[in-house]
Amino acid sequence: MQARSYLMCPPEHFRVEYAINPWMNTGDPVDRQLATRQWRALRATYLALGHRVEIIDPVPGLPDMVFAANGATVIGGAVLGARFRHAERAAEGPAYLDWFRRSGYRAVHEPRRVNEGEGDLVYTGSAILAGHGFRTDACVQNDLEEIFGLPVISLRLADPRYYHLDTALCLLGPGIAAYYPAAFDDAGRAALASQFTELIEVKDTDAEVLGLNAVSDGHHVVLPAQAQGLAAQIAAAGFEPVPVDMSEFRKAGGGPKCCTLELRP
Ligand code: ARG
Repeated sequence: MQARSYLMCPPEHFRVEYAINPWMNTGDPVDRQLATRQWRALRATYLALGHRVEIIDPVPGLPDMVFAANGATVIGGAVLGARFRHAERAAEGPAYLDWFRRSGYRAVHEPRRVNEGEGDLVYTGSAILAGHGFRTDACVQNDLEEIFGLPVISLRLADPRYYHLDTALCLLGPGIAAYYPAAFDDAGRAALASQFTELIEVKDTDAEVLGLNAVSDGHHVVLPAQAQGLAAQIAAAGFEPVPVDMSEFRKAGGGPKCCTLELRP
C-alpha cells in the first residue's frame, strides 16, 4: 500500500435542495449533524490508514460541493477542471480550479467539455476509463488524451441510478476492479473485460446501497458499511474492507468515493 493524498470538502452547506439524480428527494431532508459525524469519520478513517487529507473551503449555496470527486481530475500533477452538466452545480467548477491554482499546481487546464471529474473518470494506472451517458460528455476523450497522454476507454452508462461511473465501478488495484454489470451496455462490459484481469461482479443489493462508491489504496477498500456482500467479495480477493456509514450522503446519490478526490502529484 502506498500513502495517498485526498481532497475533501466539509459538509457545512450539504443539503438536498434539488433533485438531479434518482436518489435525490427534496422531501427527505438530510440530518446535518449525522452527515457531519459521518464525513468526519470518513476523514478520520483516511488519516488512520496513513493517508493525507487536504481540505477545500465549502461555498455557501453549493450543497453538492461536498462531493469533491466531481471537482477535477488530477493525474501526474496535471489538473483538468470540472464542468458540470447541471446549472445547480456549475459554480463548483471554478471554486475547485481556484483551489488548485492557489495550491501551486502548475498544469491546470480549464475544461472545454462537460466532465464531472473523478465521478466519471477513473485512472487505472495505464489508462483512463471515461463514463458518459448522464453527466460527462463522451467528447471529453480527446481532451483527456491531450492533457494526460493516456489512452481513454469510453464506457456508456445505461442505468440512471448509476449516473456516475464511480457508482458502477471501483478500481481495487492494478488489473482488478469490482463493477455492476447491469449499469453498462454490451460494448462497455466487453471493454472492461479486456482491460482487467480480474473483475468482481457486484450483486443488486450491494449496488443499490452504492457499495461501489468505494476508495481503494491498493490494499484497504473504504466502502459503504451497508454493502456487506461486496465487503466479503473484496476480502476474498485479498483486500481489506474498511466499512464506513455514509447513509446521509446516499440521500444525494453519494458515498465515500464521491466525497473524496484523489490528488496524484
Ligand atoms: N447530488 C450529486 C449529483 O447528483 C451527487 C454527486 C455524487 N458524486 C459522485 N462522484 N458520484 O451530482
